[in-house]
Amino acid sequence: MTKEALMLEAKKAREHAYAPYSHFQVGAALVTKSGKIYHGCNIENAAYSPTNCAERTAFFRAIYEGEREFEKIAIAGGPEGSEADELCAPCGVCRQVMMEFCNPETFQIILADGKGKCMQRTLKELLPYGFGPENLK
Ligand code: THU
Repeated sequence: MTKEALMLEAKKAREHAYAPYSHFQVGAALVTKSGKIYHGCNIENAAYSPTNCAERTAFFRAIYEGEREFEKIAIAGGPEGSEADELCAPCGVCRQVMMEFCNPETFQIILADGKGKCMQRTLKELLPYGFGPENLK
């Protein structure tokens, strides 16, 4: 699947966002090494801190289903009512969750650049010197 097609999946996932407080809606489409796609959206909470980002929703759904090997994730985010065509990079907590389950050298994070194009970075580029399971071996 192309990164443009995967970004469309993230935009579809964004339609499920529950973001009544920030009004910033995010969708994510996570691809396993076997090619399966797991979608996620942000889920906010009146107490704010229990809020779950779209990326983690996608990961946790996949992990629950037994998936452990991931290839890439596309993220689409933006203010409610917008087309989500501005760059929405994953937060630090989501990068750390990716670090738990992904190879930082090969896992790809796909973002829209704000000009209708997609950009792609490895997890290592977005989380250099990350701390992960390898550090506890
Ligand atoms: N958010 C995500 O879901 N993913 C990101 O990559 C950035 C931020 C959510 C969390 C919160 O619901 C809203 O966007 C504003 O921070």
